[in-house]
Amino acid sequence: MTHRDIAPEQRSTEVGPPLWLLAELTYRCPLQCPYCSNPLDFAHTQTELSTEQWMEVLRQGREMGAAQLGFSGGEPLVRQDLAELIGEARHLGYYSNLITSGIGLTKAKVDTFLEAGLDHIQVSFQASDSELNNALAGSRKAFEQKLAMARAVKEAGYPMVLNFVIHRHNIHQMNDIIDLCDRLDADYVELATCQYYGWAFRNREALMPSKTQLLTAETAVKSYRERLAASGSRMKLIFVTPDYYEERPKACMNGWGSLFLTVAPDGTALPCHSARMLPIDFPNVCETDLRTIWYDSPGFNHYRGDSWMPEPCRSCDEKARDFGGCRCQAYLLTGNADNADPVCSKSPHHDRVLAARRAADHATTGLEDLTYRNTENSRLFFRS
Ligand code: FES
Repeated sequence: MTHRDIAPEQRSTEVGPPLWLLAELTYRCPLQCPYCSNPLDFAHTQTELSTEQWMEVLRQGREMGAAQLGFSGGEPLVRQDLAELIGEARHLGYYSNLITSGIGLTKAKVDTFLEAGLDHIQVSFQASDSELNNALAGSRKAFEQKLAMARAVKEAGYPMVLNFVIHRHNIHQMNDIIDLCDRLDADYVELATCQYYGWAFRNREALMPSKTQLLTAETAVKSYRERLAASGSRMKLIFVTPDYYEERPKACMNGWGSLFLTVAPDGTALPCHSARMLPIDFPNVCETDLRTIWYDSPGFNHYRGDSWMPEPCRSCDEKARDFGGCRCQAYLLTGNADNADPVCSKSPHHDRVLAARRAADHATTGLEDLTYRNTENSRLFFRS
């Protein structure tokens, strides 16, 4: 018997509530970052939940016990009802976080969101200088706007939380990036090496840093951390290293359907933001209530537990720690999401990760080799 065959009444008792709810409000975005984790064919999904439908999702999530709420996209700021949704989130008792590029933000909006009850804002940057930042973002004015909005967020009394996606075209800037964050008086800086899903997977060869680049960056972060500590700075640097250089997979999403529930712009409910591409039928909040989706839908039960695991995960003494790794990564690298995550050195498909590392060591790719995330390019990926 697989986990998928277990009767709903049995499953329901084993699964805790979705503590994290991610509301992907829209796939619309003014930027074109080539490492975006949105689906390649996002332009195929034009429909978006209405304000009332999102509010109902938030209500149902909170009733089930969700405590953390992320507003993301696309760029969530393009939704004109964002302040309303924030207000509802506060009313319901969520701790809410806005994940934004800062494009479309104004000081007045920051104040409005604060008043509506938003708890946290994370502003993303592409690089430490305007030239590279704007080239990667596909926008000539992005960098100045981001600087202004990072300052506005701090002035409003929020902690300044900055996010940089790190890849082979900006990893050499590590010191400059941290310098910039220090000058801005950031409180938290997430230096997140690119994860290869969606557009980032499409662009992996042109984005993945070499091992040498990675080690140099790690050393730079470590010594900057020591300098910050010595100077009494409270800025926290979080360096998220790429799992393609690990020998064991990450416990992706803390296990499938264990904590995280993502709702895509059109209401499709997903166990992670990338799962939409998998050959699995995922439910939609317009047709099914969130409780049924979470506890009883085949999509959310598909990879719960470990009875679905083939070898080598099935008999692995580490399976309780990493749950076999990432299903989306297994699918992208092997064509079968049931397989062990090829990041694991025990996986029979680990050679694909080793090949990616070798390719990164010898790559000569430039920005001109990147496929930018925009509607025109997305249309090329429409499935018939
Ligand atoms: Fe989907 Fe890891 S990103 S399971």
